[in-house]
Amino acid sequence: MTRIILVGYMGSGKTTIGRQLAMALGISFYDLDWYIEMRYRRSVAQIFRESGEDGFRQMERNMLHEVAEFENIVLSCGGGTPCFFDNMQYMNTLAETVYLKARPNVLAMHLKMGKVERPLIKGKNETDLLAYIEESLAKREPFYAQAKHIVDVNLLDNYDKIQESVSLLRNELGI
Ligand code: S3P
Repeated sequence: MTRIILVGYMGSGKTTIGRQLAMALGISFYDLDWYIEMRYRRSVAQIFRESGEDGFRQMERNMLHEVAEFENIVLSCGGGTPCFFDNMQYMNTLAETVYLKARPNVLAMHLKMGKVERPLIKGKNETDLLAYIEESLAKREPFYAQAKHIVDVNLLDNYDKIQESVSLLRNELGI
């Protein structure tokens, strides 16, 4: 049975790499944000607006407990998932957890390339974004670092680089 959970900051490539990894292994891919949106029939941005971050974190925890029980999956979580409740510990008991570690400037570039609305960074200009990333990454790093594996991620701006990261990840996991 294979169960792999990817953690890391927003824009680290969890969804991009996770989807390709699942495809390469021939198992199902889940993205926790998408799962929350499907189950609650609201977008993450809408949940933040209507229920606040606390409401979102509660839903996120509940949905994590649902999806993380599935077998033969790759799951990418939200950037904040490991940092609330006992989520990181819970994931470590069930899965091979991997921290996709990227430098703040790489995260900022990925976030600029992304199309999804992310409530925590909405409306930030380039300088503010980098400062915000550096500050919040420092707070989150101790949670991410509890993952069983750490894989460094560089800029993912083409298919080959994504595949390269998938190979690194597979080497690290020995699969
Ligand atoms: C968040 C990250 C988002 C999403 C929500 C909050 C965070 O997921 O769960 O906007 O706290 O870092 P991604 O990491 O997939 O962007």
